[in-house]
Amino acid sequence: MSMNVGLTVNGERKEVAVRPMAPLSELLREGLELTGTKRGCETGKCGACTVLVDGKATKSCQRLAGQAEGCEVVTIEGLADHAGDDGDLHPVQQGFIEKFGMQCGYCTPGMAMTAVSLLEENPNPTREEIQDGVKGNLCRCTGYTKIYDSVRYAAERLEETTVESARGDD
Ligand code: FES
Ligand code: FES
Repeated sequence: MSMNVGLTVNGERKEVAVRPMAPLSELLREGLELTGTKRGCETGKCGACTVLVDGKATKSCQRLAGQAEGCEVVTIEGLADHAGDDGDLHPVQQGFIEKFGMQCGYCTPGMAMTAVSLLEENPNPTREEIQDGVKGNLCRCTGYTKIYDSVRYAAERLEETTVESARGDD
């Protein structure tokens, strides 16, 4: 038995058939083949499955797919477009590249989505605020320091973009 869930994913309206008790992570990975969203603990502890639901970082293993009916979901695959329509990577993605915020990369999509949500709420976080903001996402490779550097890099790029657009620069 399955049910249909209607939602918007990465800007596109979708209607997806899922098991009634399927989590949102299953809808994304198996229903839409958006496998950038990772499965880790599936108990809400690791954050590997984090996506944006209506703009908020959400552990998609902890949300029933049916609860996402009518919601706007952004996954790592849609993050560049979420940043704008110029085709560039989101500053958070650029930060992880520039500051070496990943090793195996398994935690990175969830970590990036959490960082995006954090920076939307607090565009100029201190080191401690970044540390606190991503504490629900576990990484077993990096020791976190470079992840914090990556998020700080993104905050600075976003600040520059805001200043440039206020000045009317390209
Ligand atoms: S897989 Fe969702 S929090 Fe770990
Ligand atoms: S880079 Fe490997 S788990 Fe974070």
